Amino acid sequence: TGMTTFDGGFVNTSSTKSAITYIDGEAGILRYRGYPIDQLAEKSTFIEVSYLLIYGELPSASQLEEFTTRIQRHTLLHEDLKRFFDGFPRNAHPMPVLSSAVNALSAYYQDSLDPKDPEQVELSTIRLLAKLPTIAAYAYKKSVGQPFLYPDNSLSLVENFLRMTFGFPAEPYEVDPRVAKALDMLFILHADHEQNCSTSTVRLVGSSQANLFTSISGGINALWGPLHGGANQAVLEMLDDIKAGGGDTTDFMKRVKNKEPGVKLMGFGHRVYKNYDPRAAIVKKTADQILETLGVTDDLLDIAKGLEEVALSDDYFIERKLYPNVDFYTGLIYRAMGFPTRMFTVLFALGRLPGWIAHWQEMNSDPTTKIGRPRQIYTGYTERDFVGMGDR
Ligand code: CMC
Repeated sequence: TGMTTFDGGFVNTSSTKSAITYIDGEAGILRYRGYPIDQLAEKSTFIEVSYLLIYGELPSASQLEEFTTRIQRHTLLHEDLKRFFDGFPRNAHPMPVLSSAVNALSAYYQDSLDPKDPEQVELSTIRLLAKLPTIAAYAYKKSVGQPFLYPDNSLSLVENFLRMTFGFPAEPYEVDPRVAKALDMLFILHADHEQNCSTSTVRLVGSSQANLFTSISGGINALWGPLHGGANQAVLEMLDDIKAGGGDTTDFMKRVKNKEPGVKLMGFGHRVYKNYDPRAAIVKKTADQILETLGVTDDLLDIAKGLEEVALSDDYFIERKLYPNVDFYTGLIYRAMGFPTRMFTVLFALGRLPGWIAHWQEMNSDPTTKIGRPRQIYTGYTERDFVGMGDR
């Protein structure tokens, strides 16, 4: 119709007003609630950043303690929900397991589904923050055929996740503090990114007044795609392929530039950042540091650095303003920590959760929110008469 404008991919359309995260793509700036990402990455913790995103301010000492304690009280999964994992094949990708189990929270915790009841919203928020690491660890345990561990609530959220992922029930597990710290920092870098595909999905699902659990489950599914959070897995697979082919990047780059179907330099490019991705700069530094401290050498890191160097001096990438994004180096860090490639996007989801919740809450508490309902430009047939089976 003449009344609507077309903007495929929402390249230039604001879907909402928001006070959570600020990005200046030209200048490479990212701030949560006004705080620069590099300061948060260096000085804050994931739990504190979660509080900041959701409630709008950094917590006082007592607020942080209360928040942490509340989350710790909800880390267990309902015993029946644990059996849910048995229904999946062992070789299932952990992302659909994660989103399904999160959606199932709507069935197990029916006392916190009403979006119009602030206490229920608060309870579902705490439950999600507490249970997602448990669910993620169980998705991993299921894939390797190992027993589930109950959460140990003397540990921090990230330590608990590492223990439930890599530990065994009858054995003490020493969390490596360097790994815990690096993972906590990576979660901070992933915690929010304004109206990206998964966050917009969470808002759109929630705009129908669907409950928080089910809205977040939608976001997890959107994140799985290789153009979004699935890129961290795709980067590692790309590097593996290049290595298997002898490590020469020239041929691969040729295929990228010829735009062979499905061939892209994964971990490069961004809809908003046209200069550099400030998260990628921090991640690259961390990759070097953590591999060195853990004493891990990885050929793939050299291949990645080589690819970056070639790309940054190539006209194809320069003209299109394509730079490494957050996903380019994260996989190498996760790999050095011992995570299998298929868990990478799950780690992204753990980090992004507070951002999704903050956006859902911002949308839900705004009385002017309308249901999300885009229009279309119709390109199909105009009217035609029904054709009977015998005449088709
Ligand atoms: N490799 C090769 N060419 C690329 C790439 C790439 N990674 N990214 C963009 N281009 C080209 C694209 O073909 C297009 O060329 P032309 O103008 O000749 O048609 C031009 O650059 C502009 O790209 P676009 O696809 O129109 O840009 P977009 O804003 O729609 O897409 C993107 C952004 C991130 C989906 C895209 O850059 C991409 O597919 N990158 C690879 C996947 C990836 O790393 N995703 C992670 C994004 S960051 C974190 C997250 O959200 O998870």
